[in-house]
Amino acid sequence: MLAVRPAKIDDLDAITEIYNEAILTTDATFDIEPKTEAEQEAWFASHGPKNPVLVAELDGVVVGWASLSEWSDRCAYAGTAELSFYVKEEFRSRGIGKRLMEDIIQEGERVGLHTVIARIANGNNQSIHLHERVGFEHIGVMREVGQKFGRLLDVCLMQKIYPPKS
Ligand SMILES: CC(C)(COP(=O)(O)OP(=O)(O)OC[C@H]1O[C@@H](n2cnc3c(N)ncnc32)[C@H](O)[C@@H]1OP(=O)(O)O)[C@@H](O)C(=O)NCCC(=O)NCCS
Repeated sequence: MLAVRPAKIDDLDAITEIYNEAILTTDATFDIEPKTEAEQEAWFASHGPKNPVLVAELDGVVVGWASLSEWSDRCAYAGTAELSFYVKEEFRSRGIGKRLMEDIIQEGERVGLHTVIARIANGNNQSIHLHERVGFEHIGVMREVGQKFGRLLDVCLMQKIYPPKS
């Protein structure tokens, strides 16, 4: 049974484990060093009603998460967030990322965001596909802005603007 729900502080160890696995084994994130408990606590505290974090639970075990983080602390950006989503390696490609994406996009609408931005390492075609499915459009490529595992990496910028409420 897959369930997606708002994250609680008790989920932070599982969220951190999933993220640190991705840091060490993928170029999906440009972090290189695993996150510490203190860094993750600060990250969690920087989220809240306007910047939700969701977790995906499979039979009661957290196997993925998604977040809408503040894009900038400059106030005029208040209606803009950045999307992240990660699924534990052995549970990937089973539809969990798709469900997380659908639910976090709904959450963004519910909390009144105007637009969501994603920065995706070029070549992460599954992630690009999942963003396109929920209405993200390609808005540009930042060339050779990252370097990981000995490779220079381009970043694909994608954006979704919520339709105006009638
Ligand atoms: C990206 C990630 C979150 C996706 O979660 P997931 O559970 O593996 O994804 P899903 O199983 O829901 O994806 C299924 C969809 O991907 C599509 N897909 C699978 N491989 C693909 C590929 N190589 N190219 C394009 N689409 C692909 C499937 O066709 C399916 O789409 P459909 O239902 O429209 O046919 C997960 O793989 C992950 O954590 N990867 C490492 C970290 C990462 O890349 N995070 C995103 C950072 S931007």
